[in-house]
Amino acid sequence: MFPEIENQKKRAGFKAVEKIKNGQIIGLGTGSTVYYSILKLSEKVKRGLKVKVIATSKETKALAEELGLEIIDLNDVEKINLTIDGADQVTKEGYMVKGGKGALTREKIVAFYSENYVIVVDETKLVNSLGGKPVPLEILKFGWKKTINFFREKGVKAKLRVKNDEVFVTDNGNYIVDVYFSSIQEPEKLERELNNVPGVIENGIFTKKPNEIYVGRKEGVETIKISPLKFI
Ligand code: A5P
Repeated sequence: MFPEIENQKKRAGFKAVEKIKNGQIIGLGTGSTVYYSILKLSEKVKRGLKVKVIATSKETKALAEELGLEIIDLNDVEKINLTIDGADQVTKEGYMVKGGKGALTREKIVAFYSENYVIVVDETKLVNSLGGKPVPLEILKFGWKKTINFFREKGVKAKLRVKNDEVFVTDNGNYIVDVYFSSIQEPEKLERELNNVPGVIENGIFTKKPNEIYVGRKEGVETIKISPLKFI
């Protein structure tokens, strides 16, 4: 399709697993970039590395299982040493829009409990400021029309997500509504406000800063450091 973009995803995805050590618990995000991290991690495991992973979606869990990774439940770990995930948009300060594949709620939970957090993207995802892309909201089915109308009445474009002509249902059994903001100036405030609307379970604005962002480029990988990686 776009082979150069695919190569950039691969470069970034591979880079994120370089520092993983024996015995670590690794959170795995969802999507086509972290796919390459999972692939590379499984190669390392086949060569003797010992890790356990937490999956943020059914898709990631199935892939990890197929590749022979040992899955562990979030409830059964004391801490997550490192989580690797993709993003739909990321600024160099580490603000993100995520949830393009609908896995935002589990992704945000796993990120929250992670000591180290790294993001892998191709260069098209790096932006100066957030906005212009759909921000997914995971919403309860109960009263879903009311939730959508609440946003529309406030002048916010809101669309129920549909996939293959069917309403998209998340791994948690909920709907996704994509809402649109041309420019997001105060991500923390918007993240809080969206979650304050009854019926909204979680939103795709991520303000927990990753330690590092790996941006796949034509020539290699750019590393944007935000805070030092701990214990890695
Ligand atoms: C999953 O719901 C998302 O948060 C993904 O992390 C995000 O959409 C990035 O996916 P790609 O790496 O496939 O673009």
